[in-house]
Amino acid sequence: MRMKAAVLEEFARPLVVTDVELAEPKAGEVLVRLVACGVCHTDLYTASGVDPSGYAPTVLGHEGAGVVEALGPDVGSLAVGDHVVTLFSPQCRECEHCRSGRTNICLAIREQQNKGYLPDGTTRLSRDGEPIRHFMGTSTFAEYTVMPEIALAKVNPDAPLEAACLFACGLSTGLGAAIYTAGVRAGSTCVVFGAGMVGLGAVAGCRLQGAERIISIDLSDDRLQMARAQGATDTWQAGPDIVERIQAETRGFGADYTFEATGRVAVMRQAVEAARMGWGQCTVAGVAGRGETLDVIPRWLIQGRRVAGSSFGGVRGRDQVPELVERYLAGEIDVEPFISHRISLTEVNRAFELMEAQDGIRSVIQFG
Ligand SMILES: NC(=O)c1ccc[n+]([C@@H]2O[C@H](COP(=O)([O-])OP(=O)(O)OC[C@H]3O[C@@H](n4cnc5c(N)ncnc54)[C@H](O)[C@@H]3O)[C@@H](O)[C@H]2O)c1
Ligand SMILES: [Zn+2]
Ligand SMILES: [Zn+2]
Repeated sequence: MRMKAAVLEEFARPLVVTDVELAEPKAGEVLVRLVACGVCHTDLYTASGVDPSGYAPTVLGHEGAGVVEALGPDVGSLAVGDHVVTLFSPQCRECEHCRSGRTNICLAIREQQNKGYLPDGTTRLSRDGEPIRHFMGTSTFAEYTVMPEIALAKVNPDAPLEAACLFACGLSTGLGAAIYTAGVRAGSTCVVFGAGMVGLGAVAGCRLQGAERIISIDLSDDRLQMARAQGATDTWQAGPDIVERIQAETRGFGADYTFEATGRVAVMRQAVEAARMGWGQCTVAGVAGRGETLDVIPRWLIQGRRVAGSSFGGVRGRDQVPELVERYLAGEIDVEPFISHRISLTEVNRAFELMEAQDGIRSVIQFG
């Protein structure tokens, strides 16, 4: 079929919204009609050309939600009409990692996905007979996408898809960092560095876990205000002496849990040092620039602090994205404030500009 898609033709140039061809789903694959898609930093990062593993041409986008339109052969878990959230982090339930129960990092289609192909090593996207590679296995800046069924989470159709799409990346990453990776205990003191989509999600996750004190730290007063609405009990301006302040307010010990959601290695270091001696756990969710390293004085670790990284918040996409969406429907997670701009696909480059200006949390593309 022919459809409109936002194509990254050349790095550091605006995306081009144009017609491309999308082939039928093959075995184990599903055709999804996109209804909504968030615009995330990772899309911009790839478009800018800074990401060394990026490629062009490709159709960007990975925060999609839509409706199943057609099934390829051998699809067992989805039906036409199902509402789905796209997963750049799939869950096959069969590989060594999925079976371990110890990680959400599925091995099933990793290699081909990283290269821009569907699991059989080919693309469904093309133009004038030339293949166009998929992005993050999702390519959701488009009216339709074909994806493996193991990379689609079936969610409650009562959830508006413009809200559901945020669970495809940043929001789940933040919520999951607190709920699944750290497993915050009730009554804890938590510190969240960064109050973008990921940090605000982590604040909400700490609240859902029953944390007693949640300190949100950012440079922007607007964002700190949003953090308060998500459950932060304290909101502090970022600064070089933030670790001392956290220690001073925790009888010199540090916080039970710290979360880093800025992508800055200097902040990651603060997050490690602000974790409590004895058992404090620092969860790093931010993605640092290529070649950057995190400096940690070993003594901080010997004193019982732990550091963990978290990809997609440790969320097992097909099992747990639907659960998170249920919690949203139950009124436990307030998603509306995160949708700052509603745009059409043709305005996708404006979403990048808004992001660079730090105007709002998420622009959401609405299709049709
Ligand atoms: N681990 C994953 O799977 C995953 C998924 C999505 C995003 N991410 C990463 O998470 C990070 C955050 O994403 P986002 O969408 O929330 O980004 P964002 O840019 O919207 O938010 C980052 C926030 O950090 C704040 N900040 C900057 N310097 C600071 C400092 N010194 N102290 C405290 N706060 C500071 C900024 O003001 C901003 O509000 C990015 O690095 C992103 O790439 C990781
Ligand atoms: Zn993302
Ligand atoms: Zn797997």
